[in-house]
This record gives sequence, structure tokens and C-alpha cells, in this order.
Amino acid sequence: LSGCSDQSNSLSFTEIPHSLDHQHHIPEGYQSQVLMSWGDSLSNEDTFAPATLTAEQQATRFGYNNDFIGFMPLQDKADNSMQHAKSGNSQRGLLCINHEYTQPHLMFSGYQNEEDGELNTRKEHIAIEHQACGHTIMEVALDGDQWRVIKDSDYNRRITVTTPMQITGPAAGNPRLQTAADPTGTEVYGTLGNCAGGKTPWGTVLIAEEGFGGAFMGDLNSLQGDDAKERDNYERLSIGSSDNRQWGKHEPRFNIEKEPREANRFGWMVEFNPYDPHSKPRKLTTLGRFEHEGTTIVAKPGQPIVAYTGDDDEFQFFYKFVSSNNYNPDDYESNLGLLEEGTLYAARLNEDGSGEWLPLVYGQSFLIDRFGFHSQADVLIECRRAAEMIGATPMDRPEDIETNPVNDCTYVMLTKNKKRKTTDPGNMRPKNTAGHILEILHPGKDGNRDHTQLKFNWNTFILGGHPNSGNQNERGFYGTGPKGETVTEDGWFATPDNLAFDKLGNMWVATDGCEKFHFHDGLWAMPTSGPYRALPKHFFGCPLGAEICGPEFTPDGETLFLAVQHPADADGSTFDNPVHRWPDFDDSLPPRPSVLAIRKKGGGRVGS
Ligand code: FEO
Ligand code: CA
Ligand code: CA
Ligand code: CA
Repeated sequence: LSGCSDQSNSLSFTEIPHSLDHQHHIPEGYQSQVLMSWGDSLSNEDTFAPATLTAEQQATRFGYNNDFIGFMPLQDKADNSMQHAKSGNSQRGLLCINHEYTQPHLMFSGYQNEEDGELNTRKEHIAIEHQACGHTIMEVALDGDQWRVIKDSDYNRRITVTTPMQITGPAAGNPRLQTAADPTGTEVYGTLGNCAGGKTPWGTVLIAEEGFGGAFMGDLNSLQGDDAKERDNYERLSIGSSDNRQWGKHEPRFNIEKEPREANRFGWMVEFNPYDPHSKPRKLTTLGRFEHEGTTIVAKPGQPIVAYTGDDDEFQFFYKFVSSNNYNPDDYESNLGLLEEGTLYAARLNEDGSGEWLPLVYGQSFLIDRFGFHSQADVLIECRRAAEMIGATPMDRPEDIETNPVNDCTYVMLTKNKKRKTTDPGNMRPKNTAGHILEILHPGKDGNRDHTQLKFNWNTFILGGHPNSGNQNERGFYGTGPKGETVTEDGWFATPDNLAFDKLGNMWVATDGCEKFHFHDGLWAMPTSGPYRALPKHFFGCPLGAEICGPEFTPDGETLFLAVQHPADADGSTFDNPVHRWPDFDDSLPPRPSVLAIRKKGGGRVGS
């Protein structure tokens, strides 16, 4: 195993200050465009009227709390999704965007003003929420230096809580996934908690089901007979906890007392083909069931594909899947089922900087009948328990995991874990409020590592926090430049969440939780190799209350798409009295989660 190679410092943009106000901020010499906001129509130029919004309208409008963004190139002459994706077109494409969750108090007037103090869970509101979650596919094109949403494109589509989906892989059809509405256990309506995601080289999009537990209400003690085993399973996923969304009051499938198994049909990764607006999304049970942050793929010709995926919760694990079959860049059809057959592993980190991938395979180690695993389906449905039993390392909330296309090293975002009392390998700070980033090296050389191998080395790439913090658990650790340069007062950050690499291999980190450190979330860029390794610079700052998601470049690196999620989400802020109304600042509109397109004025690579 060798270290990571040189990258020159190609990030010459002028750093911005930490953000502290109601606006978003970009470096001098850059322009930002609000491309799409919650409620904007996907089919016409109608203005959004939130007071009269219906579920039917929301079903054809941009959803709430945009998160993952995938730019999928479009070209005129393509026979299939892989040809579109491989075209690398940076002027025209499909933006595929997750809508993670709804916030009714910021979406609806009077939501929290009921006389009895109870939340106003009106059936009409919940129906709108169901259509505001999920995913948007919309065609976009670059005209000069401005992006345009093609409002009447046949590609435009919403995926919501009511979209039919197929369940595939070893858990499909298992009795634990069978419900009154679907005795086959293979068909489910909708997807929930769509946080980050991923893209495949065969032109499909992966969307994660993360914080889905809050959609389900009910008493775990009601689970009896065969269903009694779901008590522990559901408790591990915060199902039936007090902070649920009350959806089950109006829709029985979200009440475990009425439908005890519906919750087993969520918590998966979902794959779909954005180039076919009628394609049916598939839930991939091979990748396990937990609070998936996202999944990113490493695909090399003639080798199995590797999919990295994290479970964003305190003391949970990170995983990789290795396909049974090989990736063939010249044979579209042969790639379509790659994510449906293979082996899932959980990571174990050792104190000496080594690590290993432990197989989650029924019949091996503790994954046997005696411990309540009676099939591979049981292992996948109760992935958290299985990973714990085989000795995977509990981590500080694994968010995005992604492999740098230049050096082929893999990076794990560990956002924070204030509950940590004792350390684990790779999780070195108790009460870790600032988060950190690990670097994973598989055997091989820079630019060519074998991700299918079951041994790896790890090291700490960055510790979040101020580099001189008096609190040792919040003291940051960053790189030092060739002339002794250290991170600036604006370059340090905390709580890393989403991650993207530009085509030169620079790492772009989006944060979720910097308010604890008295500035707003944003985006920081840094090389992962060379003299400026791990020396971040601040590129984008959020308006108050927001986190930043999705960073996604066009293939030419000249546009950066960003998702500003939950703007104005602060104490006491409501639809009727928000702390601000980003991005419209119009008294007739509430604050609206929005996607931005950022370009350098006059063109050029973002970051230069
Ligand atoms: Fe939805 Fe893990 O952030
Ligand atoms: Ca996230
Ligand atoms: Ca997060
Ligand atoms: Ca979020």
C-alpha cells in the first residue's frame, strides 16, 4: 500500500468569509443563478401560490428540501442510458434531485397554531407532503452563461411517496416484506428520506432512503407473533419513536399497529433510469437496509463494480458491496443487474491503521439461525444488528463516501457524534461535535487501486473544528502548505456531510451543522494530494438556517450545481413568520429550498 500522489494546487479562487447573514455567498468573479425552487412547475411558467397548493399540483412541481443532485448528460443520438451518460455533454442534461423531507411548519400557514397545541396534521397537508418528497428529474440546457429548465420536456418527472416501485434482490418477497396491500412482498409505493445518492456508468441514478423512521408511528409492543422480532429491528431505526410525522393518523400503512411490516420496505437504496420517464424504480435489497446516506460506485472494465454506502446514525457502520458479475463498458444490457447480485461487507478499522471488510453473508460468523438470522434476507433487513454482531467498527455518523477519480483513494465523511463517550479506531474524539474525514487506501498504486480487496489502510485526512480550539475534542487538524501556510479563519469547517470531486481530483466538502460553531454551513474545497493536501478554502456560504447538499459538477467542470436545503430553519421560524424569505425575499413567498447553478464569470473551471 502506498500513499496518495501529487495534485498541483488548482484552487486559485478568492476565499469567502464565513457566512453570518440571510444571503448565500460565492467568491468574487463567480455568478450564481437560482435554477429551481420548491413549488416551481415542471411543465409551465405558472407562478407558485403556496396558500392554494394542492397535492395534485405538488405532484408536477419541484419538491421540498432538495438534497442529492446528479447531472446526467443528454445527447441527441443515444440508443440507451449508458450512451447518454458516456457522452459527457456539459451543455444539456437531466438534473436528478432528491427531496429529502418536508417541514410543514415552513410549508403551510398556521401549521402550529392549533388551539390545543397539537400539530395541525391535516390530511390535505400530508397528501401535499407526500408529493413534495422523493425526487425530481428535469431537463436543463445551457444558453450562453445561463441554465434553463426545459419546462415541457418529456423527461420531466416526479418520483414521490406514491410512485410504484419494485423490490429486488434477496429480501424481495420475504414474508417480512409482505403486507395486506402487497402479499407478494415485491411491490411498494414510494420512497422516503431521500438524502444523498449516486450515479452509475450505465446511466442510472441511485437514491438513498435515509431518515425514514419518522414516517412511521405506533407502539412497538403491538408487534406480536411473527412480527415480534421487528421490535428490536424497528427500534434500531427510530421507528415508532415520539418524533414521528403523524402520517399514520391518515394512512394506515404508516402506522405499525395497523400494518406491521410496511417499515421493512423502506431503508433501501433505490435505482432508476432517468432517461426513461416510465421506468419503474427498483429497491436494491442487496445493499442492505439502514439509514443510507448515499451510494457511490467504482466501476472498472472487466472487474466487479464496488458500491460504497454509509449509515448516517451515531455508532453505525459503513459498507461496501462487490458485484458478482463484471462491469462491461461496451455492453449496456449486461450492466443492468450488477447491483442485484453480489456481497455486502461492513468495515472494521484497527488501531494500527489497517482495516478489513467483513462479509454480511448468512451462515457465516454469527449470522446464523441461533442468532435469529434464518436467511440472507434476515441479514439484509437487520443489517445494523448483523454488522454489529460480526464486529464492524461503530462510527461517528458515516455520511457520504466517495472515491477520488484521480488518486483512487476513498474518503469517508463522519459528520459528528456528540453521544460518543469512548473512542474506537477511526473515531478518535469523544463528544465529537465537529466531525472528521477518513482516507481509505485499497491495495495498489495511486490512480489504480483494487477496491475489491478485503484489506485496506486508513488514516485521518481532516479533523473538523477550529485549529486552535481550547476544547481538545473540537480542535481541528488540517494540512500545512509548502511555505508553512495553515488553514485560514474562514478555511476551517466542521460537520462534513456531502462530498464531490472535481475532474482534477480536488475534494469539495458540504457541511451540515456549522451553526454550532457560529457560522453558516457551506462548501469548502481542497486538494487531497500534493503540497496543499487537506488545506481547505471556503467557496460557498449558506443563508441562515440552511445546509448545503448535492455538490455536482458538469463533466467539463464549468458549472457547479448546489442544493440549498431548509433555508430559514431556525428557532421560531414558521411559514407565517420566517426569519427570512431566501431566495425570493418576496412577502408573498415563504423561504424556499432551491437549486443553484454556479459558474465563473466569462467561463472556466469552477475553483480556478
Ligand atoms: Fe440526510 Fe445524512 O444527511
Ligand atoms: Ca446528507
Ligand atoms: Ca446530515
Ligand atoms: Ca439534511
